[in-house]
Amino acid sequence: MIENIICTAGLTVLDTLKVINENGKGVAFVVGNENKLVGIITDGDVRRHLLRGGGLEEPVEEVCNKDFIYARSDESYGQVICKFSDKVSIIPVVDSNFRVVNYFEHRNNLYVPIALPDLGDKEFKYLVDAFLSTWISSTGSYITLFEQKMARYCECDYGVAVSNGTAALHLALIALGVSRGDEVIVPDLTFAATINAVLHANATPVIVDVESESWCIDPKEIEKAITPKTKAIIPVHLYGQPCDMGAIMGIAREHGLYVVEDCAEAHGAEYDGEKVGSFGDVGCFSFFGNKVITTGEGGMCVTSSPELNDKMRLYRDHGMSRKVKYRHDVVGYNYRMTNLQAAIGVAQVERIDEILARREEIEMNYRDVLEGIDFLEFQVGNLPGRKKITWLVSHMVNGRDRGEYMAHLKKSGLDTRPFFYPLSEMEIYKRYLYSNKNALDISKRGICLPTFCDLGEVKREWFVV
Ligand SMILES: Cc1ncc(COP(=O)(O)O)c(C=O)c1O
Repeated sequence: MIENIICTAGLTVLDTLKVINENGKGVAFVVGNENKLVGIITDGDVRRHLLRGGGLEEPVEEVCNKDFIYARSDESYGQVICKFSDKVSIIPVVDSNFRVVNYFEHRNNLYVPIALPDLGDKEFKYLVDAFLSTWISSTGSYITLFEQKMARYCECDYGVAVSNGTAALHLALIALGVSRGDEVIVPDLTFAATINAVLHANATPVIVDVESESWCIDPKEIEKAITPKTKAIIPVHLYGQPCDMGAIMGIAREHGLYVVEDCAEAHGAEYDGEKVGSFGDVGCFSFFGNKVITTGEGGMCVTSSPELNDKMRLYRDHGMSRKVKYRHDVVGYNYRMTNLQAAIGVAQVERIDEILARREEIEMNYRDVLEGIDFLEFQVGNLPGRKKITWLVSHMVNGRDRGEYMAHLKKSGLDTRPFFYPLSEMEIYKRYLYSNKNALDISKRGICLPTFCDLGEVKREWFVV
């Protein structure tokens, strides 16, 4: 109860100590006229006061700390959580009149999370609208609208909304006719969904190395790995960085290969001024909760091919004939997205430029605050022709033990994430390896940092060991 932690400014130090003792929090919030917060006092402050020769009968107002950390009630969780430190473990929340209305307490399991979705009034309004329309399954106006808006954003003619990013990749491969006996080239450094989609299509993945600079699939390695069985390439725009699409599309044209772009981590990234997703036969997006824009779970295939658009719609919807209901032309899947998810997606895609600008600001801030820490090497942001976006701010740790460094960041209250394990290091995928030298090295050193629109102040002291 909040009352147990509040004491009035006129109380003596002794009485304040009783309040602190009873509430068990080691702290009291001191309020003055009109219950406005004037200070914070901890049991440690009282101890130091007594050691300095102070008395127990003095008013607490004269002893408490007046330069304290607090949060306003309109601040978000992400902003408040960044205010904790090894010295601050409890934060009062005040209203517009500076009255205490709540408090946040740091517990051992409370971290600045790696990601939080950026959901606001617009998402809520569209979601309620979809709810009230009663079109809560996979038919409804928000689905069409989301597909149109996302396709337009990616400079493509069609969008096919699906249940998640993995389904998007699988659907694209199926629509392209990728099947048993075909080889599909994938990068070693990616989330497992990329290779799983190939295996779900009964094709054979061929794992190739990534570029040491961009961390994305290396076109030279793609070229070397091509065989008469190669049918497609899946470039993954990793951690917001676009692949070298000029070189990859050149190779694909020369060898007659399909290209399915995995854009799950790079909404809005560009190559030569054009959006990722618009280069290959199909671009596949994920809208999982930690992605740049989200629908909770969700995904989309974008394409400019009317034939692929038709095929993906057919396979997405149980393979059911679009002319005769309940007659099935092919063995399909249920990969549909709901209208409720799409409603959130419409709001998110309408706000994507604002979201990306904020994420970029966060990355710039990390780079500023951490400048000069010589063992940190940030992701390259200025490769010729490539415009990366900020998904998760990513850097490598050089000359230190990454595990120990992550443990240090955890102690600072930061939730971090190691880079993906190379696919080739996992028992179930290693037989598909072609090359992996750079991936092994990058994967061992990389860390992703908390990145979300509401992130509060980033402190250098969190990072310095
Ligand atoms: C590179 C990559 N591809 C595919 C996916 C799969 O997306 P989803 O989780 O929506 O199935 C993800 C994300 O989780 C991803 O990071």
